[in-house]
Amino acid sequence: MNTELLDGNLMADIEAAAKILAHGGLVAVPTETVYGLAADAANPTAVKKIFAAKGRPSNHPLIVHIASSSELSKWAEDIPAVAYKLADKFWPGPLTLLLKKAPAVSGIVTGGLATIGIRVPSHPVFCKLLELGKTAYAAPSANPYKQLSPVSAQQVMAGLGGKIDAIIDGGPCAVGVESTILDLSQKPFRVLRSGPISAAQLEQVIGETVENPLVHSVAVSGNVEDHYQPKTPLQLVSRADLQSLMVKNEPNAACISIGPVSDNPAGSFCVSMPTSPVDYARLLYGTLYELDQKKPAVIWCEMPEGEQWGYILDRLRKASSNF
Ligand code: TXA
Ligand code: MG
Repeated sequence: MNTELLDGNLMADIEAAAKILAHGGLVAVPTETVYGLAADAANPTAVKKIFAAKGRPSNHPLIVHIASSSELSKWAEDIPAVAYKLADKFWPGPLTLLLKKAPAVSGIVTGGLATIGIRVPSHPVFCKLLELGKTAYAAPSANPYKQLSPVSAQQVMAGLGGKIDAIIDGGPCAVGVESTILDLSQKPFRVLRSGPISAAQLEQVIGETVENPLVHSVAVSGNVEDHYQPKTPLQLVSRADLQSLMVKNEPNAACISIGPVSDNPAGSFCVSMPTSPVDYARLLYGTLYELDQKKPAVIWCEMPEGEQWGYILDRLRKASSNF
């Protein structure tokens, strides 16, 4: 299959993408978090193709993207009032709400579960598609199963080119890591995947405690996918250890530091990342993609410290689980 590269700056290209989706095709679309692989959520035959293209097991549920919170009741039922409060505060944006699914929603979308993950994305290209399509789009991250989520159209092409109908290039993703997932389908409310919106921010709106387990077990309901891996083994190390490893100047090792480090050996693949978590998150996956392409033997990555780094540390732990 030839994968068409469409330009998100051109209305004709967004219209072409909407047409492909309306005919049951797959289009990778930009979101503010990461690129998603979209299919019409109301068309189970189209949604099935997502699992085939990604090589993803069919019992892994997909997030459904809607145009606004007024569409929530088409896809979910028994919606608690806090869902609308959270939607008012954080949508469009990187928060996925887990709710009881409406009876009409196909189990193909939810991996056979009785719950459904829903969010309103904020990327203008995706918003335009939702407006044109007058439907909702099921969209997991647009990467082959277990690999890194893509944050540019080129990364999607490298992973899924030839397997999907089209990719809309909407530029680099502004947030850079996946949405926070909050389970509102049972009490106590619980964060299933930490993300750009913190548990503290959620608690402030909900007015009650939100569980936020440090380690997100795959055993929790919904089987949250636990792989966001670069191809190169990644090891998390303290800043002091990173400095001494770099002084040794091991051939063919790469490193990622938070802010500059001294003794950065010339010619090594060392990346100095921003010291603010938000800026760091935006660059993280792109940096891992680029380092992978240089084929180092290992990536040493400085372990961030502090509560605001929680969702980034979560991704780095997953990235390092192959070490
Ligand atoms: O930022 C994001 O959330 C991106 C963009 C494209 O929206 N999407 C994304 O989707 O990261 P995906 O499929 O790569 O990750 C969604 C995670 C999976 O681990 C899935 O198991 C979990 O959400 N999930 C989705 N629906 C669920 C449900 N009904 N119950 C439990 N977990 C669910
Ligand atoms: Mg994913």
